[in-house]
Amino acid sequence: MIEDLEKEVIEKISPVIRECGKLMLAAKEENISSSTEEKGSRHNLVTKYDKLIQEKLKNKLSEIMPSALFLGEENEKQPDIRNGYAFIVDPIDGTSNFIKGLDTSCISIGMTYDAVPVCGIIYNPYKDELFTAAEGKGAYLNGKQIHVNNDAIEDGLVAFGTAPYNPELSEKMFSMIKSYFGRCLDIRRFGSAALDLCDLAAGRTCLYIEPLVAPWDVCAGTIIVREAGGTVTDLDGNELQFLTKTSIKASNGVA
Ligand code: IPD
Ligand code: CA
Ligand code: CA
Repeated sequence: MIEDLEKEVIEKISPVIRECGKLMLAAKEENISSSTEEKGSRHNLVTKYDKLIQEKLKNKLSEIMPSALFLGEENEKQPDIRNGYAFIVDPIDGTSNFIKGLDTSCISIGMTYDAVPVCGIIYNPYKDELFTAAEGKGAYLNGKQIHVNNDAIEDGLVAFGTAPYNPELSEKMFSMIKSYFGRCLDIRRFGSAALDLCDLAAGRTCLYIEPLVAPWDVCAGTIIVREAGGTVTDLDGNELQFLTKTSIKASNGVA
């Protein structure tokens, strides 16, 4: 029953997330920097598109599943998602890339039940890549099943997030990056946690590490990686939780 519900939710959300992706593509015609504001620090930016897409998703998701709570990055107040269904939404993951025209950003929608992810949908409009996964049903890229790769650390690319809004973590993080550099094929820093998880799920990288992320950055991507055969924990190896910020280590299970 629940499995059917997740499949139905993915089917109903897919056209909505693609529509929102068109808004991101249309924004390329305009000077996005002029509609940008800071959120707490000069590194953390928000545009009118983050707000527009979140509002659109909030309305559509409440039609698709009225009983589910809505936790969105741009909310002023977040709901308590410990009980029942909730959507966890990042309207644009990779906002700095979006503002600078790097074409490496996406929309991320996770659904949890009692704070555990049960399905995830991530759309990268620049590559027209739609990643989906439901618990126990596998992970898919544009409808085709995907799997993590088998790369050992020596043969694989390792993606890092730099927790840009938490400079107090930079010493620890850059020494960690240095320790991997040289051991692995090479390191990468793409600028979207959700896409970092999708790249791992699609077998493009072997590891993704970031010292601090928010639930909306990684909720959908976590179930996509797990359903693609990978593992996701915090940096101490604990089960990832989605109630507060956390560190993250996602792996193909070999690296
Ligand atoms: C950020 C991106 C970035 C990651 C940060 C996130 P935002 O999300 O995913 O890659 O390093 O930790 O906060 O602010 O662009 O939605
Ligand atoms: Ca984000
Ligand atoms: Ca965001």
